[in-house]
Amino acid sequence: MPQPQLFALDALSYFDVIVVGSGAAGLYAALCLPSHLRIALITKDAVNQGSSNWAQGGIAAAIAPSDTPEFHLTDTLQAGVGLCDGDAVTFLVEQAEGAIASLLDLGVAFDRHQGQLALTLEAAHSRPRVLHSADTTGQAIVSILAARVLEQPHIQIFEHSFALNVWLHPQTGQCQGIRLLSQGQVQWLAARAVVLATGGGGQVFAQTTNPAVSTGDGVAMAWRAGAIVRDLEFFQFHPTALTVPGAPRFLISEAVRGEGAHLVDETGDRFALHYHPSGELAPRDVVSRAIFSHLRSHDHAYLDLSPIAPQRLRLRFPNIIQTCHQWGIDVFNQPIPVAPAAHYWMGGIVTDLMSRTSIPGLYAIGECASTGVHGANRLASNSLLECLVFAAQLAKIELPSKRDIGSNDHKAKNGMTHGVTTDLTTDLMADSWPNSWPDSWLAATEKAIAIRQELPSLMWNHAGICRHQQELDSAIIRIQQWRSQLASTHLGQFILCSTQTSQSVLLSTELSNCVQSVAETLNLLDIGELILKSARWRTESRGGHYRNDYPQTHPDWQVHTFIRGNIIKNKAVALSSPAVSVNC
Ligand code: FAD
Ligand code: SIN
Repeated sequence: MPQPQLFALDALSYFDVIVVGSGAAGLYAALCLPSHLRIALITKDAVNQGSSNWAQGGIAAAIAPSDTPEFHLTDTLQAGVGLCDGDAVTFLVEQAEGAIASLLDLGVAFDRHQGQLALTLEAAHSRPRVLHSADTTGQAIVSILAARVLEQPHIQIFEHSFALNVWLHPQTGQCQGIRLLSQGQVQWLAARAVVLATGGGGQVFAQTTNPAVSTGDGVAMAWRAGAIVRDLEFFQFHPTALTVPGAPRFLISEAVRGEGAHLVDETGDRFALHYHPSGELAPRDVVSRAIFSHLRSHDHAYLDLSPIAPQRLRLRFPNIIQTCHQWGIDVFNQPIPVAPAAHYWMGGIVTDLMSRTSIPGLYAIGECASTGVHGANRLASNSLLECLVFAAQLAKIELPSKRDIGSNDHKAKNGMTHGVTTDLTTDLMADSWPNSWPDSWLAATEKAIAIRQELPSLMWNHAGICRHQQELDSAIIRIQQWRSQLASTHLGQFILCSTQTSQSVLLSTELSNCVQSVAETLNLLDIGELILKSARWRTESRGGHYRNDYPQTHPDWQVHTFIRGNIIKNKAVALSSPAVSVNC
């Protein structure tokens, strides 16, 4: 893949649209946005780092002659346990074929069987409808999308650049850009629209299949800016992550069970069948809870791949075979030790069919968005599809004129000309830089590092697969303590400040790292608290949210959980509280 060129942000930098995130959603959005626009694609690591690149099983689309979008719709609604938005799901399944055609046009090589696109079965799908590229489907898609983005002169990619805040116009509330840490500089970057495509938040849990970049930044930033977020209690726990001491929770794709693998315990009992008639292919939450419960009385859960012919195994799962081998497991002769891990966040920033959030000028796509297609539980392989279908909506984006972004007074006050801050160039606050800052920033970073060692275990133990009121309450108290300790530090205040200060700030590499580390920790604390509060609010069990103290699904709870600022409600219309204000 060609390497992105390094661009410097300077006073001449001006963007119509800033896209934050370079997973399937962000990359495809950048390609779909009209090509006369100047687009910045901001990403906090290398361009291909993200869940999209790790996706294994594939992408769902009803393209088989025996399948229809209506069947896909029915399966998706059933998986979502009453909380899907019918219009959003209809839109998703109807756009699927076109999205696949577009990927094929761009050059994505899906597996074929006898010349036709090969389709596999995954849990809770009534038909084989998952397109794949061996067991590295995400990589096949992301590498092509990234290569196509790099060919576009109107898209500039900024790698290793971290979005800190969403920047709102103080009078109109319109989103007018972001606050960014890039190449050692913290600066305000103006644009006519901002698209958040920052992915999920699996890193908030100790056991997760998600990559390191999945720290919920977009949801935290949008929530702090006052956007409405929805259904944050619904986290999907994937049943089968590799469980070997010292190994990361590498995903063992559901497609392995779709191809015939069995879940067994150390006695060889195929225990999933005791919990649900569909056994291994029951919905993910059911299989995850089955493993979780079974492990209370048994030592191990294994995935036994012996029902799959070795030749088929080699063809379909080369990456899984290789990674297991790396961790000492020969899948041809040994079952794979597995356990559930946090995998996908159904909740997120509320968006409409045009991918607009509740804040004018702010859009959200991919896993950080709550489009309404997943409800309480996502159907496998619907996520990559959602990334593409809702990113494509940005082709129809309506931008405010540059004049409308802010009043002239405001521009003068904030040093903006034509939507560009004049102080994007280095403006080192050499004189005003108190000598004590670096020391206090390092101390805050040490605090953040300590919190990150404890927070994921707290979340896993108190808000994981099975939840209970008392555990949720005690975790909320702990998180609030950590949050206020970190937010009250000088660095915490610097990061949370969402009102433009006149200068940009140039930092050493060490202090840049401090900013990112504390910012990510604050984001994790924010999403942790929001997940816990949403989980406490919902006194029933549904989809990815299971309460030991309320184990039944209750018809009265067939409603969403909306949060804006500190208000939690079942109805978006009732959310009229102001955004969370952070004093600078
Ligand atoms: P991501 O691909 O995660 O990208 C997020 C991007 O945002 C990254 O580039 C990141 O660096 C950037 N970013 C985040 N915060 C910031 C910030 N503050 N500043 C700048 N940049 C930022 N789904 C399927 O449909 N099929 C599958 O087979 C499948 N398999 C999966 C396997 C694994 C192991 C995992 C973890 C997930 C899988 N999923 C699958 C889910 C799916 O991959 C994700 O939901 C989807 O790829 C999310 O795409 P995204 O573009 O929203 O986010
Ligand atoms: C998998 O391959 O099991 C993951 C599929 C998904 O999360 O959609």
